[in-house]
Amino acid sequence: IDEDEPTRTLDSRTLESVATFIKNGHARKIVVMTGAGISTSAGIPDFRSPDTGIYANLAQLNLPYAEAVFDISYFRNNPLPFYTLAQELYPGKYRPTITHSFINLLYQKGLLLKLFTQNIDCLEREAGVPGDVIVEAHGSFARQSCVECKHPYPQDLMQKAIHEKSVPTCLECNGLVKPEIVFFGEQLPTEFFANRGLPVEADLCIVMGTSLSVQPFASLPEFCSQGTPRVLINQERVGTMGSRSDDVLILGDCDGGVRKLAEACGWLEELNELWAKT
Ligand code: APR
Repeated sequence: IDEDEPTRTLDSRTLESVATFIKNGHARKIVVMTGAGISTSAGIPDFRSPDTGIYANLAQLNLPYAEAVFDISYFRNNPLPFYTLAQELYPGKYRPTITHSFINLLYQKGLLLKLFTQNIDCLEREAGVPGDVIVEAHGSFARQSCVECKHPYPQDLMQKAIHEKSVPTCLECNGLVKPEIVFFGEQLPTEFFANRGLPVEADLCIVMGTSLSVQPFASLPEFCSQGTPRVLINQERVGTMGSRSDDVLILGDCDGGVRKLAEACGWLEELNELWAKT
């Protein structure tokens, strides 16, 4: 072994060792996997946090169970609960967080191989991450179409319906219109399956703001090769994160964890400047 060649593995399971690994140029193909926890500080509730999560606040919708609001068979019978909630979730009135800007910073530095997100708020795009490096595994509000005949539905009419909390119907067949976000019971976009194997090529994996409780997204970190450090930046330990000898857990608020990691990499000023421009 060449003595002064910095080791290609982490020297410890700390944030500092991840920063050293990055500064030594060992992380050039980073995959990032995110969930609703990276948007809570933007004002968008996540799903499963007790008290503040969406699923804990749907009582007024009289749902048989919380996740029904995103269940395709329930939606076909009763689309109103979804359209009541959609107004709160619809993109456009939220600012990206510093965590979104950190992902953009990785991209700007040419280190981001792919971002896999479960979020439908489009804040990654608004933070400057280009669409071709983002896999929106659970779709997004970017498009909407008829659940019966699949005919696309105009964006302006959808925004009007969301604003009025009314249920839009297809201009062709009068069927129900739904944004192209993935409901329970629906297939994920083909783009997810086309990219699902990509983590095997990554040299660093960063998982942020997700409970890793919904498959098949939750299996993504398992596709990282042995010897590829996997970093969790999250309030709580989730999934299998922490089970490998080179997993690193940075538990706590993701904006704080991202600031600490950026500082350890010597990127804090750049990150703040990038975020200030969003
Ligand atoms: N900082 C760090 N972690 C946070 C923060 C924060 N500010 N806020 C929330 N979290 C953590 C929570 O502790 C939890 O572990 O983020 C995670 C959010 O988990 P969920 O609410 O389950 O959100 P997510 O993992 O994105 O849900 C997955 O479930 O309902 C479906 O399709 C929907 O995409 C969604 C999927």
